[in-house]
Amino acid sequence: MRAQAAVHFEGSSELQIREIEVAEPGPGTVLVKLGASGVCGSDRHVLDGDWQLPSPTVMGHEGAGEVVAIGEGVIDVEPGDHVILSWFYPCRRCTACLSGRAFVCTGSRSEECLLPDGTTPLALDGEPVYPYLTAGTMSEYAVVPESAAIKVPKEVPYDVASLIGCSIATGVGTVVNDAEVDAGESAVVVGAGGVGLSIIMGLQLVGANPIIAVDLNEDKLAAARELGATHTIVPGPDLAAQVAEITRGGAEYAFEAIGRVQTIESLPGLIAPGGTAVIVGLPPADAPVSFDALALAETGKRLLGTNYGSTVPGRDFPKLAALYLAGRLPVDKLISERIQLSEVNEAFDAMRRGERARSVIVF
Ligand code: APR
Ligand code: ZN
Repeated sequence: MRAQAAVHFEGSSELQIREIEVAEPGPGTVLVKLGASGVCGSDRHVLDGDWQLPSPTVMGHEGAGEVVAIGEGVIDVEPGDHVILSWFYPCRRCTACLSGRAFVCTGSRSEECLLPDGTTPLALDGEPVYPYLTAGTMSEYAVVPESAAIKVPKEVPYDVASLIGCSIATGVGTVVNDAEVDAGESAVVVGAGGVGLSIIMGLQLVGANPIIAVDLNEDKLAAARELGATHTIVPGPDLAAQVAEITRGGAEYAFEAIGRVQTIESLPGLIAPGGTAVIVGLPPADAPVSFDALALAETGKRLLGTNYGSTVPGRDFPKLAALYLAGRLPVDKLISERIQLSEVNEAFDAMRRGERARSVIVF
């Protein structure tokens, strides 16, 4: 099987559209024909050299499509099913998986961009090429472990489904699974890109109030208001004072959704005593942050890290899809542009300029 794919070569921040070879699905894996792939900030980190990966890499990790073939022993899905791909495939055998905490699975090889048997299903001119996070969704076809392909109703359009696979799962999961925000509690979200706007959707879903969005870009703030933000702020020299004014002394929850050291360090100052600060944005590797530990301890503030919104894909994707179909999660409003695979570099440039909530590649 041959497929057009967006390939990253180490040292270059431009993707190349190349024809790759995709293997038949082996035992426990499925072949998916992609319908859509989101363009996420995490892909950008790789392009900009923030994180090290095996190279070359087929980029993209936020995708949805149709199962077209299954390997030996696959029982969860069958050809014709519509699936959302998870960029973290649980091994389903380690202690974390068995205790329902698949998001901290220790048996997965997704971060190595490998299938469970240690191979890659993709090749370029006869040489191995690696699917980013074993998803590689910026390609017409992908082969993924069956635990990474979650069946959802066919009524969910592919563009919406693709976003459920990363930004929505991360954003809503952070609110629901990690912070456990309740109705009437106050929250501030720093960064209103795809992930930040998804957090705002999650906050709106659980009835948080007020919901404060912070971003440098006015268009992002307008999108935030449409998705449920009650207040929007362009950060000035004293963001903490701006937040304190709206919340009378600090928010109960603060989320960082950019991945910048400085904004992460600003989080504890945005919350009231007893409040919770959540690091959602992923900074470059080896970028330590520092806090006044005494002030944090004395005020009983909590600091949480979260990866993927502590999502259990098989449990959470169908729920998020159902909430979309019920009109309670307006995922489609996150899509600012639908593009062709060949336009992917422009989408990353727009992201670097802070433009567009989410660009979605449609196949
Ligand atoms: N203050 C406020 N907002 C800022 C600042 C700043 N100093 N710098 C950037 N922003 C805003 C941008 O304007 C943009 O709207 O942060 C937003 C970042 O959004 P995206 O680039 O679209 O990134 P996104 O896909 O949302 O991912 C954010 O989460 O999953 C991680 O790896 C991902 O680290 C990345 C983060
Ligand atoms: Zn992502």
